[in-house]
Amino acid sequence: MVNVKTKEEIRILREGGRALAFIMEELCTRLKPGVSALEMNELAERLIKKHNGEPSFKNYQPKGSKNSYPFSLCVSLNDEVVHGLPLREKVFKEGDIVGLDLGMKYKGLYVDMAVTKGVGKIGEREQRLVATTAKALDAGIGAIKEEAALGDIGFAIQSYVESNGFSVVKKLVGHGVGYSVHEEPEVPNYGRPGEGLVLREGMVLALEPMINEGGDDVVLDEDGWTWKTADGSLSAHFEHTVAVTKNGAEVLTKRE
Ligand code: MF3
Ligand code: CO
Repeated sequence: MVNVKTKEEIRILREGGRALAFIMEELCTRLKPGVSALEMNELAERLIKKHNGEPSFKNYQPKGSKNSYPFSLCVSLNDEVVHGLPLREKVFKEGDIVGLDLGMKYKGLYVDMAVTKGVGKIGEREQRLVATTAKALDAGIGAIKEEAALGDIGFAIQSYVESNGFSVVKKLVGHGVGYSVHEEPEVPNYGRPGEGLVLREGMVLALEPMINEGGDDVVLDEDGWTWKTADGSLSAHFEHTVAVTKNGAEVLTKRE
């Protein structure tokens, strides 16, 4: 069964989501050539502490994974799709696109957010992929309301992405969130209208389209964490934590 959160829990998630959005904004302003992914991880930890939260990815063991994640932030560069490790050797250069994915436990509840940003001046292809992925997330959020189905979300994302010539990653999906990092239901970024679970007010979901420039297939790197595109093409990722309402969705991971 998919749980629903109380009004009070959603109030806390809104507070935590707002803090997480501020933290993400700050991380984005520090994304410059020569900066390393490890520095971003350290900054993320400092900022989470400052906002009275705890890093939720650190020591988290995703289902099907052999180990627990050793960092607070995921940093996925160019052809890396998600769950890239924030290593010292991973140094940003002009033209890279960088996915930053950060989760926080705040007053006992979990929020999750990701953005993809360019380093310095990025190419037209990169710009188009990043903009399309951001809009795909908006399209998915736009399909949410009580009585809508999970398939409506996936369909909105997939049809927008494919009409722009890109592909939706299918091996990895979004998820319920709030009482833990990942909870039911799985939220695919593809689907058919009317299919799957029917949404109820108070459900809290992490929508996270992962969009590839080339084919949709992804492969797990030898490091056991980093998902990369199988064909080496670019990939982008955006994620918001949202609450289902009677008439739509409330984005919880936003600054206003
Ligand atoms: N936001 C990521 C996701 O939903 C969570 C990363 S789990 C970690 O998949 F273990 F890799 F940190
Ligand atoms: Co997530």
